Amino acid sequence: MTASERLRDLLHLGTGVAVVVHDPSNMFYLTEGYTGEGLVYLSADRQAIITDSRYTEAAERMAPDFTVITVDNARDHNHCLAELMREDRIAELRFEANYLSVESFDRLRGAIGEDVTCVPLEKAPQKLREIKTPSEVLIMRKAANITSEAFRAILPKIRVGMTEKELQIELDFTMLRLGADGNAFDTIIASGENGSLPHAVPGSRKLCAGDMITMDFGAKVGGYCSDMTRTVALGQPGEEMRRVYDTVLRAQTLCVDALAAGKNCYDIDRLARDVIDARGFAGRFGHGLGHAVGIDIHEEPRLSPKCHEILRPGVVITVEPGVYIPGLGGVRIEDTCLVKENGCETLTTADKQLIIL
Ligand code: GLY
Ligand code: MN
Ligand code: MN
Repeated sequence: MTASERLRDLLHLGTGVAVVVHDPSNMFYLTEGYTGEGLVYLSADRQAIITDSRYTEAAERMAPDFTVITVDNARDHNHCLAELMREDRIAELRFEANYLSVESFDRLRGAIGEDVTCVPLEKAPQKLREIKTPSEVLIMRKAANITSEAFRAILPKIRVGMTEKELQIELDFTMLRLGADGNAFDTIIASGENGSLPHAVPGSRKLCAGDMITMDFGAKVGGYCSDMTRTVALGQPGEEMRRVYDTVLRAQTLCVDALAAGKNCYDIDRLARDVIDARGFAGRFGHGLGHAVGIDIHEEPRLSPKCHEILRPGVVITVEPGVYIPGLGGVRIEDTCLVKENGCETLTTADKQLIIL
């Protein structure tokens, strides 16, 4: 079944009802490959991409199962959409209330007229995206392999005196050379005391002997993300940072081992928090334990105190506990994992024991 068929199925899309999608990640998912601008229209027996001439040929190549409609000076996207809806006799339009701005919605509403009922799509495409198909898993495994391989390749290049920014450039270049299409997100390099910033921006700080260095990075391949964090030591770290590392590693491996279909996201998050709190670092792990990954770097569900979803096979999700101590530093260890019936497969495979360079 194609992604657009899965959505029609989920929504029981009958005659008189259509879906319009503007979120680029949902457009990519539903068309199985279109990365340009515009919108996607789905009705019971029609599927179309409405775009401008910059993307017409690309859309035809990337999404051969979709009709491509090109806007012009006389007919903008909303007018083309209204035409299709009139031809299909659409009375109800499902739209992304979580994505369209009020202004964009008002313009769309103006073009399609007051007789059509507009109903929120309630993130139905995102719900489908939670369960990765075997072909999606194949691409994500490739992205994760490149990420793991890049970590192994970068280790001999990490030296006292190089800046965080230089390390970021090396790492990003290594992923591209290994076959990444790009980065899944901006690479994080946090050295020494900067390690207490979970989303540090790599800067001009020079790496020093005794630093812990957190590297959070991921390759993007075929439109899909990977996400991995490793923290290494440059020379012997201090006693307290060793204790932090052991704690985070213990929490991370415990949660990866516990990850399986049928488990509650909340409970997995709790496991990590209990280990970290029990070892004297209560309050030093402020973020959630993990997030699903796919076309977007951050997807649902989350491993978090706020998420009570039950994990299902085919969910790809990160496990990334961290401990952050201002003035001292921090440690985070993260893997991207595929949830299975009786456990999980860790897609990112780089070594997690403390590496002292
Ligand atoms: N790289 C961002 C995150 O781990 O969520
Ligand atoms: Mn990450
Ligand atoms: Mn992450």
